[in-house]
Amino acid sequence: VESCTGLVEKINTLPTLSPILQKIKAVMGQPDSSAADIVDVLKLDPAISSKVLRLANSAYIGIPRTVSSLQNAVVILGQQRIYSLVLASSTLAAIPRGVELPFRSMDFWKHSITVAIVCESIARHLQRYDDMETGEFFCAGILHDIGKLALSVFDPERIVTARTHSEEKGVAFFEAEDEDMTHMQVGYLLAHRWNFPENLTNAILNHHTPERAIAFKKVVAIVHLADIMVHLIGLQTFPNEPVPVIRDFAISQIELQPERLRTIAYEACEDEKRIESLIAFVS
Ligand SMILES: [Fe+2]
Ligand SMILES: [Fe+2]
Repeated sequence: VESCTGLVEKINTLPTLSPILQKIKAVMGQPDSSAADIVDVLKLDPAISSKVLRLANSAYIGIPRTVSSLQNAVVILGQQRIYSLVLASSTLAAIPRGVELPFRSMDFWKHSITVAIVCESIARHLQRYDDMETGEFFCAGILHDIGKLALSVFDPERIVTARTHSEEKGVAFFEAEDEDMTHMQVGYLLAHRWNFPENLTNAILNHHTPERAIAFKKVVAIVHLADIMVHLIGLQTFPNEPVPVIRDFAISQIELQPERLRTIAYEACEDEKRIESLIAFVS
């Protein structure tokens, strides 16, 4: 319990996220906002502006012509996706560096970003039945395991122990974690610290137990399924990490069968260059 309290304290001392985020959020909340309004906000941060421009010209978008204005880049990427990416990259920037992680950070980001791409793709397939904002799913996918990153910085021993248990018992990593402080709970604390939107907070807390979500069940179910699909593809945070079992509840929330999901996931991940362009944005 003592180490849990310490962890909570450490989380509460983390810096606040980029002020740009609140401003983007505010613009998005206005019904008559335009790309030009987002551009005005982005211009306050030249580093973010140039990343946005670079991303619009990357394999992630894959359009043949050059995008030279920030305005066009915003139109192409979409406000919600820009918000997600700025949120992900400033979250990363707020977590202290310079410590040796108990896993390869590239594996972590590859996993998270691929889950984001798969979430987005599943959401797009479901749009036929539902009116959904696919950008939100992308955001939830990128940050679902953020607690793992925080734990690995603040309490790496916990990660190492859980990982050993997970491999020895052949159970998923989250099942081998200490119940008092799982990566879902730590992620939830971070989400609170940084006032993440509620759908995101729910997805972070319940991505391994979607049946427990009290709201945003569909987002949670999609993140759960995308996470497992990405595990099956072989992109885990740790090599040899046992794949979590799909919860029936998640399947019942959407109109796609596991086989179809698997195909969607494989197709979404085929282009490695797309994944790499996104890693370049957040790291
Ligand atoms: Fe997880
Ligand atoms: Fe995950």
